[in-house]
Amino acid sequence: MTPQPAAANTDLPRLPGQPFFHYRNQELWVEDVPVSTLARAHGTPLFIYSQGAMLAALRAYQRGLAGRRALICYAVKANSSLAVLQTFVQAGCGLDIVSGGELSRALRAGADPRRIVFSGVGKTRQDMRFALEVGIGCFNVESRQELDVLHEVASTLGKRAPVSLRVNPDVDARTHPYISTGLKGNKFGIAHDQALAAYRYAAGLSGLEVVGIDCHIGSQITEAAPYLDAMDRILDLATAVEAAGIPLKHIDFGGGLGIDYQGETPPSADDLWAQLLRRLDERGFGDKALMIEPGRSLVGNAGLCITEALYLKHGDQKHFLIVDAAMNDLPRPAMYEAYHAIVPVTLQERPTGVFDVVGPVCESGDWLGRDRTLAVATGDWLAVCSAGAYCMSMSSNYNTRGRAAEVLVAGERVQLIRERETVDDQWRLERPLDLKP
Ligand code: LLP
Repeated sequence: MTPQPAAANTDLPRLPGQPFFHYRNQELWVEDVPVSTLARAHGTPLFIYSQGAMLAALRAYQRGLAGRRALICYAVKANSSLAVLQTFVQAGCGLDIVSGGELSRALRAGADPRRIVFSGVGKTRQDMRFALEVGIGCFNVESRQELDVLHEVASTLGKRAPVSLRVNPDVDARTHPYISTGLKGNKFGIAHDQALAAYRYAAGLSGLEVVGIDCHIGSQITEAAPYLDAMDRILDLATAVEAAGIPLKHIDFGGGLGIDYQGETPPSADDLWAQLLRRLDERGFGDKALMIEPGRSLVGNAGLCITEALYLKHGDQKHFLIVDAAMNDLPRPAMYEAYHAIVPVTLQERPTGVFDVVGPVCESGDWLGRDRTLAVATGDWLAVCSAGAYCMSMSSNYNTRGRAAEVLVAGERVQLIRERETVDDQWRLERPLDLKP
């Protein structure tokens, strides 16, 4: 990316993801490409990713963990598009997966199976078999019953499954309740006070090889404190497990680091890891191999979703801006009342209004932003910011809307990495009615 001249307009909208997204002469650019060029070429809604932003986010982790035996396993669920996975795999990452489908993607992206960890509370026997056959690096196991099933599946294949137990450390990640996972009331992990017994149990099963310990306390965490608390709890347990004669090769601290959607100030990955490594060293675990599973913090602010303003509608109480992207493309506002900045693609003279930005889907929950002050006219393009994580990967076909197209930008280069889904793509697997009424 070339350095940018200062923009002429001093009153620019707040734009997460700078400097990879920036205004140049009143126009929004992604690295060295104007967004309007991409919207014109590919239509809207359109996801645009900055590969530079992804790699810069990864470098912050790599700096933070430099000199340690550490594997960064990108959490595929955050954005599972093949070209995104390839970007991280080719930059040296392992991957964190939660389904057989994600495993297929990971392999297709060229990941070394030994650098893949398999998380999730509901792995099927079929998924376990698949993962064992390709030689997966580690299963993060979440219950006693899962240990039994995995032991059985591995034994049938004549293999030993490498396992780590996901421990629920019972710490409050202080994030949205739907994305908090490390509290006693959550479905995730094995309760801290049951974990030692579960380790003893696992160590006695011939189809399993205990290799590590794992935790993941939630997502969009914006402070270091919950991580430090979780680390203390996990290290207490690791000490007890090793004292029981069960050696641990690695410790996995999961993902969860938050990003700036609306002015949040999470620690940078290198700053967070400086603090965590200090604690690790103090507690005598400095030599242990580490794994982490970041998702959002690697891709969230590397993506925009471009949408066209279709209609302005002035109601008694509210003004609505109806756009062509919807909750099927960007489900986070509907699901978590999440905030995403929405900014014009071209800054131009327009009457300013306060709008609820909404999609065409037939649900009142289909909103992308509420009470947004925007200078906009129909036909304008808007960018929904921080759309790299948990947007395309959670998209759906609700209202028989095709999934959006995706492009990846690297400097001046552009690649279409996913074509817009057509209605033929959507009903390819459906069969017309044979049973006459
Ligand atoms: N590891 C495990 C076991 C996970 O469950 C998750 C995310 C991650 C790693 C990656 O976490 P991250 O670094 O991305 O925070 N759809 C929600 C987020 C759900 C997170 C689920 N688990 C959202 O849009 O906010």
